[in-house]
Amino acid sequence: MSNTKEVFKPNKKFAQNARIKNMCEYQALQDFATEDYEGFWGGYAKEKIDWIEPFTNVMDESNFPFVKWFEGGKLNVSAQCIDRHLDKRKNKAAIIFEGDRGDKQVITYLELYYNVNKFANLLKEDFGVKKGDRVVIYMPMIPEAAYAMLACARIGAIHSIVFGGFSAEALKDRIEDADAKIVITADGAFRKEKPYMLKPVVDAAIDEKSPVEKVLVIERNNEDVEWVAGRDYSYNELIKEKSAKCEAEVMDAEDPLFLLYTSGSTGKPKGVQHNQAGYILWAQMTMEWVFDVKENDTYWCTADVGWITGHTYIVYGPLAMGATTVMFEGVITYPDAGRPWKMVEEHRINQFYTAPTAIRVLHKMGEHEPANYDISSLKVLGTVGEPIDPPAWKWYYEEVGASKCAIVDTYWQTETGGHIVSPLPGATPIKPACATLSLPGIMGEILDPQTGERVEVGEKGYMCVTKPWPSMIRGVWGDEERFVKSYFGDVKKDGKAVYFTGDGAVYDEDGYITITGRTDDVINVSGHRMGTAEVEASIKKHPNVAEVAVVAKPHAIKGEGIFAYIVLKSDDGVADEVEEVKAINEVIKKEIGNIAICDDMVFVSGLPKTRSGKIMRRILRAIAKNEEITQDISTLEDPSIVKKIQNMVRK
Ligand code: PRX
Repeated sequence: MSNTKEVFKPNKKFAQNARIKNMCEYQALQDFATEDYEGFWGGYAKEKIDWIEPFTNVMDESNFPFVKWFEGGKLNVSAQCIDRHLDKRKNKAAIIFEGDRGDKQVITYLELYYNVNKFANLLKEDFGVKKGDRVVIYMPMIPEAAYAMLACARIGAIHSIVFGGFSAEALKDRIEDADAKIVITADGAFRKEKPYMLKPVVDAAIDEKSPVEKVLVIERNNEDVEWVAGRDYSYNELIKEKSAKCEAEVMDAEDPLFLLYTSGSTGKPKGVQHNQAGYILWAQMTMEWVFDVKENDTYWCTADVGWITGHTYIVYGPLAMGATTVMFEGVITYPDAGRPWKMVEEHRINQFYTAPTAIRVLHKMGEHEPANYDISSLKVLGTVGEPIDPPAWKWYYEEVGASKCAIVDTYWQTETGGHIVSPLPGATPIKPACATLSLPGIMGEILDPQTGERVEVGEKGYMCVTKPWPSMIRGVWGDEERFVKSYFGDVKKDGKAVYFTGDGAVYDEDGYITITGRTDDVINVSGHRMGTAEVEASIKKHPNVAEVAVVAKPHAIKGEGIFAYIVLKSDDGVADEVEEVKAINEVIKKEIGNIAICDDMVFVSGLPKTRSGKIMRRILRAIAKNEEITQDISTLEDPSIVKKIQNMVRK
């Protein structure tokens, strides 16, 4: 929990020019939303979105949780992000790209317009992509990834980005679930000055049953790749011929914009669906409020476009508001832990947004590195993806922010589309490691899952949102039941289902919210969500694994690490433990990717189960943390197993 005694007030000078200048203004906005919810959202939707046709209804929740926002409204998200800025900002940098090896590229709004239009024409003319088609994007962090997203948005195709660290199997599952006919990829890219490959992963993900008909390959590292004639096409060749004008498709406010697969509590990832108007509205509003980016500012978010943070806060949010967004291909600790601060100095970055894992690594590897650079341009520092611990927060605040920058600890998820709980940099007094308050318009509340009542101060409850908001998840692709059950099944307030995030949270005496972590079987490794069931399913593919249970274990850098308890099929014990661990990790790499590799693997003779066969994960979590077992184990099928496992772990 946050230390409630330490409070840092917003920088006065900064607050004077901020969009939301103080807590009275914050409260006034939240009161307005509470009293006239539709007036609040309708007003902002009219003001912020460049509508082709105006909407006729703000919100329809008659079929809750299938909610519709801004019905009747027509728009195009790529036009919202590009075309409407051309009058005022055509020569302004839209994207500043820095490659792994330090190569740089500035793309103005006018250039972005041309590039996206050409890309859109290519998809339409050469690949026959139409409105509603799903396009999988498997790309490194290069500007073409943003062009691909915006080109899809321009022609009404639904993109589904798969993070470049996922394996061929994981990519294949996502391609098939979305029934995507097109994949956009690159030969590869650079990491730590060495080329790495993506195209071979795409090749391995497409078999004869695959729905994929065409693959578009962007040249980045110019390494040789296999080529399937009639299926694979070179972007660099095709794009030369394309016209730089492509009419933006007229989209309904509730047409799907993208899918993004994320882990849940079952083995199969969910295709989270976001739609057009509500998503882009909140992406833009939160950019303006939470980062308070000004016309001449340069903003950098270190995420990857493969995650929701990259979608909302590298591409859609910044471009919708006409900002300059930095895109970085490399590794922030390479060649050393001064890299991000060198970039801040060189690009005069004003807002810097990263994950606690990165902050912890930068702290550990280069505590005093920030002082070696002129990073005085920084005004707002952001953090996202996992709970941040007070020591990392303090270092960020003092060493990076020189005790003058606000830290916005932004709490949200793939499903919320944009921030839901966060400080406002010019208004909210901040406390270390505390996400503070719901943003204006968001009815966030910590509820008791049993009674649906708001919990008391200091009492742990479930983080919920009690009213639908514009950027709320619209569905799980192809699975309505899972959508309803996953998010609207656990908590009821006044008898009505509310959105449950899956996270626990607690109020302090000022009503501030501290997120305490997931309440389900989802592990947060370096800010990446991994379902334990997903990792278990991959481990089970190893022929010698009989049973497996995966739990989270606190990790000094990654926040949480993956701890696997494995029962092997052969009882002879493990001939060579190191080899067995290696072999199982190879299976995980193949099924999911490097991000799911286990930090700890222990071979045990059995798992603690109830008589009905349920694995008692709480016991396994406690053992992984080396904690006392406080719960009654006499009801287990075999109580002696607990001691045995403890001995194995301590070995
Ligand atoms: O557990 C919460 C944690 O990350 C989860 C969402 O993961 P994902 O959908 O991958 O999106 C990550 C980027 C938004 C949440 O359920 N989380 C996210 N932000 C925070 C956080 N936990 C604590 N504090 C945060 N600021």
